[in-house]
Amino acid sequence: MIDHKEKEVKITAQNVDFFYGQKQALKDISLDINKNEVFALIGPSGCGKTTFLRILNRMNDLIPKTKVSGTVRIEGQDIYDPQVDEVQLRKSVGTVFQKPNPFPISIFENVAYGPKANGNKNKKKLMEIVERSLRQAALWMK
Ligand SMILES: Nc1ncnc2c1ncn2[C@@H]1O[C@H](COP(=O)(O)OP(=O)(O)OP(=O)(O)O)[C@@H](O)[C@H]1O
Ligand SMILES: [Mg+2]
Repeated sequence: MIDHKEKEVKITAQNVDFFYGQKQALKDISLDINKNEVFALIGPSGCGKTTFLRILNRMNDLIPKTKVSGTVRIEGQDIYDPQVDEVQLRKSVGTVFQKPNPFPISIFENVAYGPKANGNKNKKKLMEIVERSLRQAALWMK
């Protein structure tokens, strides 16, 4: 079957270097990620997969003594431009980590945290979101 859909680049990295202090974790990474495609990073433990993923929503900015260089664009926007609001960026570039990291509050409040942060204050709606999310994760017990 011929696929007539044009490939559209969504994320592009050019010559990305990344350092934890003196230690270089990423060296001259250039790649494109297309819209509506599944893209996998495969490699041995410690090769820099998570470091690269954290670059895509500037989560590495939160780790002291780190340095990134090169260019990362998402939909054409340089996400390391000083004008970019990294909190807004992290809202649109989500991450599901390999290890869960719940806050020390109730299960309900952990699940409701995201929608609440997005301004959803309707208790009934939050209840629905929490129940649906927990059911989808097979964590709803009744
Ligand atoms: N916070 C940190 N401080 C210092 N060095 C770090 C930090 N996080 C990762 N590193 C180092 O950077 C390198 C890349 O690590 P990274 O976690 O990106 O690898 P990975 O490919 O995701 O590995 P894994 O498959 O184990 O998840 C490793 O040498 C790691 O020890
Ligand atoms: Mg990792």
